[in-house]
Order: sequence, then C-alpha cells, then structure tokens
Amino acid sequence: MTRPREVKVALLGATGAVGQRYINMLPRHPYLHLEALMGGESAGKKYGEAVHWLFPDPIDPEMAGTVVKRAKPESAKGCDIVFSALPSEVAAEVETKFAEAGFTVVSEASAHRMDADVPLMIPEINAEHLALLESQKRKRGWKGAIATTPNCTGTGLSMVLKPLIDQFGAKRAIVTTMQALSGAGFPGVPSLSIQENVIPYIKNEEEKVAAEAKKILGTLSNGVIKPSPIAMGISCNRVAVIDGHMETLYADLSQEVTPRAAEKSLETFRGEPQRLKLPTAPDHPIIVRKEDDRPQPRLDRLAGSVPGMSVVVGRVRNGIDGRSIQLTLLSHNTIRGAAGTAILTAELMESEGYLGT
Ligand SMILES: NC(=O)c1ccc[n+]([C@@H]2O[C@H](COP(=O)([O-])OP(=O)(O)OC[C@H]3O[C@@H](n4cnc5c(N)ncnc54)[C@H](OP(=O)(O)O)[C@@H]3O)[C@@H](O)[C@H]2O)c1
Repeated sequence: MTRPREVKVALLGATGAVGQRYINMLPRHPYLHLEALMGGESAGKKYGEAVHWLFPDPIDPEMAGTVVKRAKPESAKGCDIVFSALPSEVAAEVETKFAEAGFTVVSEASAHRMDADVPLMIPEINAEHLALLESQKRKRGWKGAIATTPNCTGTGLSMVLKPLIDQFGAKRAIVTTMQALSGAGFPGVPSLSIQENVIPYIKNEEEKVAAEAKKILGTLSNGVIKPSPIAMGISCNRVAVIDGHMETLYADLSQEVTPRAAEKSLETFRGEPQRLKLPTAPDHPIIVRKEDDRPQPRLDRLAGSVPGMSVVVGRVRNGIDGRSIQLTLLSHNTIRGAAGTAILTAELMESEGYLGT
C-alpha cells in the first residue's frame, strides 16, 4: 500500500470549543499535519497561553508553543486545506477571502451551509455532493472553494434518518433534543442559567436542523441538490450535560416495520468512508444498544472504533402503529457534530483528488 502524502492544514478559530477538538484530534492523524493556527484575540500569543484548555489530557507540546496568527490568507501560505471553526458572522467574510485566495475551506460555521453551490457534508450520507465544488469554483470565479459540515444537532439525526429513508421510506420526523453545553461554545451558557435547569429554546436551531437535514439527505442531479421531501418538526432544549447531544426521534414510515428490522437497518448502515477505510471512519457509523436505559451521554458519547464518531441509538420501538418507529439517539457534538466530520470530509476530499497533488 502506498503511504499517503502529508496534507498541510491550517485552522481558523483554534482556541474555541470546536477549534480545541481539532488540536486534540489532529496531532494523532496519519497524514493531516497542522501547520498554522489562526484566531482573533489570540493572534500573536502562544496557543498554550491564549487558550482556555477544556480537555483533561494536556495540549500537544508542539501546538502549545505555536504562535497563533491573524485570520488572513497569508497566514496559511503553503497549506492544502483550511478548517474553519469561526463564529458564523465572522466566517461569512473570512472564509470567502480564503476561497478567493485559492484555499479549500472546510467550515463548521453556518454562514455558507445553505448556499446552493456549497456542499453540506456527512461523508457517509452524501459523498457525491462534493462534486458541487467544481461548479462552485467556476460560478464564483474562485481558485479555491468552500465545503461545510452541518450543525451538531442535525448530524446524528441525519445519519439515523438516512437508512430509515432508504429502507422504509421515512416521510415524517418529529424530534426533541437535549443538547449539551459545549454546543454553545466557550464560555457558552451562564452557569446560573443552566444549573438545576433545562432551557427550552436555542436561537435559530430548530429551523437550521430541519433545513440542513433536508439538504444533506437530498439528491444531486445536474449540479443541483433537490432537498429530501421528509417533513420535520424539531424542538430544541439545552441541558446541563457537558458533551453529547441526545435526541428522541419519532418517524412515520411508508411501510410496516418491526423494531428488529429497524435496528438491523441502522447497525448495518455503511457509507463511502467505510468502503474507502478512511482513518477517521468508524467501523460502525451507527451503534445500536439493546438495554432499556441506553444511550446515555456520559456512558456512550465516546463509543466506537474511532471515539465519538459513531452515533449511538437505543430504545428502538414501534410508535402508534407498525408504520412508525421511535428511538433515542446520541452523538458527540464536537467530534461527530463538528471537528470529526470535517476531518472525515477532508480525508474524503484527499482520497477523491479534490485537494490536488
Ligand atoms: N460547539 C459545537 O458543538 C459546534 C458544533 C458544530 C458547529 N459549531 C460551529 O463552529 C463554530 C465555532 O464554534 P465554537 O463553539 O468553537 O465557538 P467558540 O468557542 O466561541 O470559538 C470561536 C473561535 O473563533 C475565533 N474568533 C472569534 N472572532 C474572531 C475573529 N474576528 N477573527 C478570527 N477568529 C475569531 C475565536 O478565537 P480568539 O479567541 O482568538 O478570538 C475562537 O477560537 C461556530 O460557527 C459554531 O456555530 C459548533
């Protein structure tokens, strides 16, 4: 087997909740090599001094000593790919500048997710949507391009809906979320608001989750994504959990299904990353637990062969009739819901020749 080439990586928003997840994951990566860290207020400081580090294991010493640069294209000179973990309002302009300057950007921010010519990637579901990058470059006259990854809440949900749509024709999904604190970034939700409490509102989240899932699950034909027709009703809640978004799903299907058949469809689901054996692809994108009281965030958010990259599902049962399924799902919001899916997208791009040679 040929050894993969080294792919040089720059990271925008390195000190944030998602940025830190990249710093936590990338030093162990077989060929993605972090070369440049960029930020706003942290620019000019050593990363280890600028960051409020959130993980128990120490910062990689090389990263800790790296000086954070200003978020401009010159800072990423020589890099093959730029990951962006910027706030959306900053990302809109900054990511465009990087793409204009010739960089391939993979963004966590919502700024460009719903642009018609920008792929919104979960590689297990829609690897073929990467083809939009070529038409995006042509249309916008850019040398580079932008690909995006979804909102952390929609990621696990879309992964579970994909096999249910393909095998049983899921046509309506009613979802209630219990979302972790790290989903709001750092410092995020004030402790006095969330201690001993649940907040039944997350601004713009419900609209985002529904629209993005329909795009991710849509079909690409003649350079245009036709959104999935699935109807969705979403209720989002913030709960006092640090990491791991839990969601209950009620799905109406086009045909009769037993819970066992639904479980089998979920646990046998595989995608292009598994076929290509990409380094960050979990063996099982969806893990099904049979116990009555799983999944649970503290116990299951790091499950699987690549910790945090599998969606864990449990409590699979029929709803009001044999044409409906209810279940509980859990996905790690800063791994599968953010940095992990972006890294997997970069691996797919490299494998399919989108990052040049
Ligand atoms: N948290 C999640 O679970 C999650 C999941 C999926 C997607 N997302 C999305 O990912 C993005 C990052 O989220 P987060 O939770 O990591 O946010 P965060 O903790 O608030 O971090 C924001 C980062 O952006 C940098 N930044 C802010 N203003 C900047 C500017 N003007 N120029 C350059 N850098 C600037 C900050 O760096 P300085 O400290 O240097 O200013 C910081 O590193 C957001 O778009 C969010 O919606 C988050």
